[in-house]
Amino acid sequence: MSIKFKHVSYVYAPATPFEQKGLDDVSFELKENQFIALIGHTGSGKSTLMQHFNALLQPSSGEIALAGHRITPTTKQRELKTLRQQVSLVFQFPEAQLFESTVLADIAFGPKNFGYTDAEAKKLALKWLEKVGLPKSIANKSPFELSGGQMRRVAIAGVMAYEPAILCLDEPAAGLDPKGRRMMLELFKAYQASGHTVILVTHNMDDVADYADDVLVMEHGRLLRHTTPSEIFKDRAWLLKHGLGQPAASEFAAQLAENGLPLVPQPLTLTTLTHRLVAHFKGGE
Ligand SMILES: Nc1ncnc2c1ncn2[C@@H]1O[C@H](COP(=O)(O)OP(=O)(O)O)[C@@H](O)[C@H]1O
Ligand SMILES: [Mg+2]
Repeated sequence: MSIKFKHVSYVYAPATPFEQKGLDDVSFELKENQFIALIGHTGSGKSTLMQHFNALLQPSSGEIALAGHRITPTTKQRELKTLRQQVSLVFQFPEAQLFESTVLADIAFGPKNFGYTDAEAKKLALKWLEKVGLPKSIANKSPFELSGGQMRRVAIAGVMAYEPAILCLDEPAAGLDPKGRRMMLELFKAYQASGHTVILVTHNMDDVADYADDVLVMEHGRLLRHTTPSEIFKDRAWLLKHGLGQPAASEFAAQLAENGLPLVPQPLTLTTLTHRLVAHFKGGE
């Protein structure tokens, strides 16, 4: 199911001294079953945009079409209950929202809330506990006995357990160690590959290069660009101008180019960089 934003603006605390523009005339269309990276500086509007995907925030003006729903400034929240099952949003630091007495009950909460029986919800919870890389032996522990990284996984399992068609994640890997981060990202990529849409807010340009089909770049509440990772990382001057980084492989390739060894086209991932260097040295490229 495609996602379409038409001239969406959002204003926080309108007509008060605290009025603040969150989104400014944002329009785009996403194809089905893609992995989308959403990037931009702090305060650029990423989290505000994310909260529109499941109508936690409704546009101040403009409209959104997704998952068979049309969301306008006047759409009633009660009309959006089915949307919440199809589109789910994992906030930054979701571990802060755990509340059940056991890990299993916490993961099963979402599926139960969306109409699965207790037995089905438990089964799904066990399945997703394993999928996020946690041992079954912690199922009956209190989530508060776990490490921060484990709690994060429990919170994410709780959202994935009811298998939303569109999974939105706001910096889900922030603060995780590199191994934990990779495992998470691989899990989201596999989720996309099994026929879902994944929308991921990240500051990590390697994640963008390694996983994303499309990139949305936000700046001051506006959508600056909607393009592909290879397009965005091709233009170093543009990235610099907007204070955005490059993937490690591109950064390295740029330094090679400055030192007289240009690799064309520019590699975005370590895997491509390695292959290109091997080809260069072995094949006399
Ligand atoms: N609850 C809020 N009340 C008022 N302004 C907010 C609120 N949340 C975000 N903003 C403002 O909206 C703009 C976009 O913020 P946000 O969407 O959180 O950006 P990002 O997630 O990219 O850091 C910023 O100017 C921010 O200060
Ligand atoms: Mg944010």
